[in-house]
Amino acid sequence: KATPRVRQLTTSLIQHLHDYARENELTVDEWMAGLDLLNEAGRMSDDRRNEGQLLCDIFGLESLVDEITYKLASDAQDEPTATAILGPFWRKDAPHKAMGDTIVSGIEAQGDRTYMHGTVTDFRTGKPVEGAVLDVWHTAPNGLYEQQDPGQPEMNLRGRFTTGEDGKYHFYCLRPVPYPIPYDGPAGKILQALDRHPYRPAHIHFILTAPGYKPIITQIFDRNSKYIDDDAVFAVKESLVVDFKPFQGDPNAEFELPYDFKMATF
Ligand code: DHB
Ligand code: FE
Repeated sequence: KATPRVRQLTTSLIQHLHDYARENELTVDEWMAGLDLLNEAGRMSDDRRNEGQLLCDIFGLESLVDEITYKLASDAQDEPTATAILGPFWRKDAPHKAMGDTIVSGIEAQGDRTYMHGTVTDFRTGKPVEGAVLDVWHTAPNGLYEQQDPGQPEMNLRGRFTTGEDGKYHFYCLRPVPYPIPYDGPAGKILQALDRHPYRPAHIHFILTAPGYKPIITQIFDRNSKYIDDDAVFAVKESLVVDFKPFQGDPNAEFELPYDFKMATF
């Protein structure tokens, strides 16, 4: 729709594209090579593969837009949980689970079983947030999300948990591993052209929603993971780096991961 905002974004994009072509003296062949890449990205994309997003992500664009969109008020004393990019592998309709349940449904379930727990609070009052929904997803030990991998059960390593009046949450997952973003397409070609690797540090994704609160899209990162200082898509923030701790006395988990989330009202 031709709103003023759409007009602004479109004319500005055209301006920058023209500047880009002029500054680099872009030739017809080079322009066509770029078009091929874009068209290939389009052809590759479907429900399971979002190549356009991968391209934006290796350019750092999703991280920049995340920063611009969710920048904090400069007078914030204490701060709500930092945001991070959504990435291409979230799925809607992840199963609702009972608190304390596991998101691991693969029978192969090798991997370091982890008990994750914490409290969701209002960052201003410190009070627990009731009815917060934690939508969580991460990769299997082979580095693949369930929709990328026919070997995993549908919705493996995904779940939604709802807090009660104490704001507490707890569930079982696996300790994630570093893995490459899909690099068999245009995003991979560009990484290669820039001598860059496709790896992301080990991370777990979350979307937090709660009545009356601003949603938080974020990820937490394993401090001891390879690539923690060199994420292919530039998503790591210090406040989102966490420590997995050896866990004794629970037959269902080798590691414990305590993490509290802080939300802001609208
Ligand atoms: C990207 C993000 C992810 O979380 C992931 O697992 C793979 C790729 C991305 O931003 O492109
Ligand atoms: Fe991811």
